[in-house]
Amino acid sequence: MTHLLITGGAGFIGSNFVHHVIARTDHTATVLDKLTYAGNRESLAGLPEDRVEFIEGDIADSALVDSLVADSDAVVHYAAESHNDNSLHDPRPFLDTNIIGTYTLLEAVRRHNTRFHHISTDEVYGDLELDDPQRFTEQTAYNPSSPYSSTKASSDLLVRAWVRSFGVRATISNCSNNYGPYQHVEKFIPRQITNVLRGVRPKLYGAGHNVRDWIHADDHSSAVLTILEKGRLGETYLIGADGEKDNRSVIELILTLMGEPADAYDHVTDRPGHDLRYAIDSTKLREELRWMPQYGDFEAGLRATIEWYRENENWWAPAKEATEAFYAEKRQ
Ligand code: NAD
Ligand code: DAU
Repeated sequence: MTHLLITGGAGFIGSNFVHHVIARTDHTATVLDKLTYAGNRESLAGLPEDRVEFIEGDIADSALVDSLVADSDAVVHYAAESHNDNSLHDPRPFLDTNIIGTYTLLEAVRRHNTRFHHISTDEVYGDLELDDPQRFTEQTAYNPSSPYSSTKASSDLLVRAWVRSFGVRATISNCSNNYGPYQHVEKFIPRQITNVLRGVRPKLYGAGHNVRDWIHADDHSSAVLTILEKGRLGETYLIGADGEKDNRSVIELILTLMGEPADAYDHVTDRPGHDLRYAIDSTKLREELRWMPQYGDFEAGLRATIEWYRENENWWAPAKEATEAFYAEKRQ
């Protein structure tokens, strides 16, 4: 049996991973999470207490991190400041958590020779033209655009340096845009679903031609578990499910699936520096580690996600007002 230290396990993708691991393995887990505005203990409700321990704390707290790493067989590192719009208004927490927090974990796994898996994003590669036939691969040069993605790129480079200079036993994965249950209402898909549920018109940045490569969070989890079990040390794996969609199509699909006219949304001011298109080529992960996504039908996955938000208003309602107040003050 393996004991995992999962950072950021009360966030969107981290909590999906904890549920996935508990359902599919006999591992036990300690979740280390600071419970920022993005963390929610309710996302871990119902998990067996004898297999999941929760510690509220900061990944930049080196004494705490050292003691938790000492008791773990592997670390899966999700904790981050994750929202681009926030990073454009207050970048500092992104440096503290994404860079210093990752450095703190790396020093601990170096001291204890503990296996480390670092969760990262396709945004480290910058963006693609809409008609570019190429997609991101493990060889694509780093070219991040936002304070968020530049701090994630920094964290990836720290991991690579600790592998090469100190022999840390680490892997990295860079995944595309996730959707599914437990995603904070600041993000595109849950923001629009909960707007419709509240009788508010969805908000599309600019013309909405921007393309994101959607993957269900559970497919992300299965990919991470595969890399943890079978990935080659020192390697990077890109995770994606061939889910490219432009934002306008996604907002129109949400409205249609929720029984509203497809054009019942507002165009609002575009995000500064807005990346145009992300697209992942996950051939390496599929061929080398034999991973396959299970959620091939985006519309079915979106319908299930809409149902989840319909049925779990108690989970998202406490964050909705503050999120929309932020958008009203900082954007429109
Ligand atoms: P999230 O914002 O929903 O969750 C982040 C979690 O980290 C929260 O629970 C928060 O409380 C915790 N946290 C923040 N700072 C912390 C600190 N200093 N110490 C301990 N815990 C802290 O984010 P998410 O969307 O679940 O993303 C998780 C990871 O996946 C991030 O590393 C992100 O870069 C990466 N990623 C996200 C996506 C996506 O589509 N959301 C895609 C690819 C990669
Ligand atoms: O690509 C992976 C990344 O995906 C992760 O690294 C990030 O943590 C995650 O937040 C996500 O980044 P994006 O910036 O792509 O996600 P967001 O949900 O903020 O926006 C998705 C797209 O929708 C983007 O083109 C901006 C647009 N958008 C967003 C919001 C919140 C809108 O049109 N309207 C909105 O209200």
